[in-house]
Amino acid sequence: MPHDTLSITDNRTGKTYDLPIANGTIKAMDLRQIKTGDDDFGLMSYDPGLANTASTKSTITYIDGEQGILRYRGYPIEQLAERSTYLETAYLIVFGELPTAAQLEQWEFDINCHTLLHINIQRLISTFRYDAHPMSIFISAIASLSTLYPDARDVTDPANRRLQIERMLAKVATIAAFTYRHNYGWPFNYPDDSLSYVGNFLKMMFRSTEVNYRPNPVLERALNTLFILHADHEQNCSTNTMRVIGSSQADPYSALAGAAAALYGPLHGAANEAVLRMLEQIGTIDNIRPFIEKVKSGDGRLMGFGHRVYKNYDPRCKIIKHIAGEVFEVTGHNPLLDVALELEQIALQDDYFISRKLYPNVDFYSGLIYRAMNLPASMFTVLFAIPRTCGWVAQWLEMLTDQEQKIARPRQIYLGPDIRDYVSIDRRG
Ligand code: ACO
Repeated sequence: MPHDTLSITDNRTGKTYDLPIANGTIKAMDLRQIKTGDDDFGLMSYDPGLANTASTKSTITYIDGEQGILRYRGYPIEQLAERSTYLETAYLIVFGELPTAAQLEQWEFDINCHTLLHINIQRLISTFRYDAHPMSIFISAIASLSTLYPDARDVTDPANRRLQIERMLAKVATIAAFTYRHNYGWPFNYPDDSLSYVGNFLKMMFRSTEVNYRPNPVLERALNTLFILHADHEQNCSTNTMRVIGSSQADPYSALAGAAAALYGPLHGAANEAVLRMLEQIGTIDNIRPFIEKVKSGDGRLMGFGHRVYKNYDPRCKIIKHIAGEVFEVTGHNPLLDVALELEQIALQDDYFISRKLYPNVDFYSGLIYRAMNLPASMFTVLFAIPRTCGWVAQWLEMLTDQEQKIARPRQIYLGPDIRDYVSIDRRG
């Protein structure tokens, strides 16, 4: 018998089946042959939250959750965080290789060409209430881009796909900055192509009356690193959403809006906002232990802790913790950092968190850095969505060009009522 097989005996029938094993998986469809009779549909696997289901093969991001390893296209996140720029990393993630100098220059030029927003999108942003959550505005504006670029619906044309990818990477930063300006009632700052992607974003956010605004280089570098760390994270909730919507061949703006909507939830990309609110609620070091006891008794969660894949320290969190120190040297010390550091120490020594392998994740310290940069907590998830756009579009592209992919359509186990007759309203009890 070949070694790379799995033998399954169905005790209902006594039959044995040999299923091939490839890449540490069996094909779910191979289970379908396991039947009790001709009218049996065949066996399926049940996996809520897809916790143990590989929905795709991918060459983009490698994670070893037990070891705390993250690599984009084979490159360790630590090296990219230290040496790369966000746009260079985006190129790597989307196209698979680091660009040559000429490719990078062209890529930066192409993205810069698309940073302006059509006046209709600017007007759309302006119509939202002054206190609308920036993530809600962001999602709506992204979805609306599909009205301006109907050509995006031709997802089968490689040149067209590249054009839309450049547009998406460029416009998310402008939309993000405009949501912030709108919340404060300030005029929009138009893009400046003499700056880096991150520098331009900071200028669109923060330029007030200065004629020659220049971003603080330490903050620019810190945000560049944060963008690299957030660029992709394989098949998480929002990426899966991008792939699922894209699998119907919907235009990429609609898929991107869906992915951003998935990111908006507090169990995913809005955790950084929730972390800051949690730290503010705890307030001082004295309140940490009672807070942890509350969490352990099942009342709430320790936000910024735990991860579906990492059962070890999130490698991004280590880098972010280091950046936080550099940023606070420029912006001044934030006492909430002391609360965060102590909270982490206490949790890491507590059996509740140790036994469940709950470690700080990417969101635990990022909110503190954003706050030090004067960003309101409501903007934190938007700051996650900007760089994650590159991961979303790379995964979308990979899905569209993968011959094995089909429209996403999972199965269910129906446990509802059996057939019954309609009862008229006057006869219902
Ligand atoms: N605080 C307290 N307990 C927790 C936490 C937490 N942050 N996370 C998990 N647990 C506990 C659960 O209560 C459960 O305990 P039990 O076995 O006694 O019932 C156990 O750990 C396993 O938890 P699950 O919810 O099954 O783990 P899952 O892998 O489904 O969830 C998740 C992962 C959603 C990230 C979770 O850890 C969580 O809610 N964390 C807080 C929110 C957060 O920081 N999200 C950001 C994640 S990173 C990102 O999306 C960018």
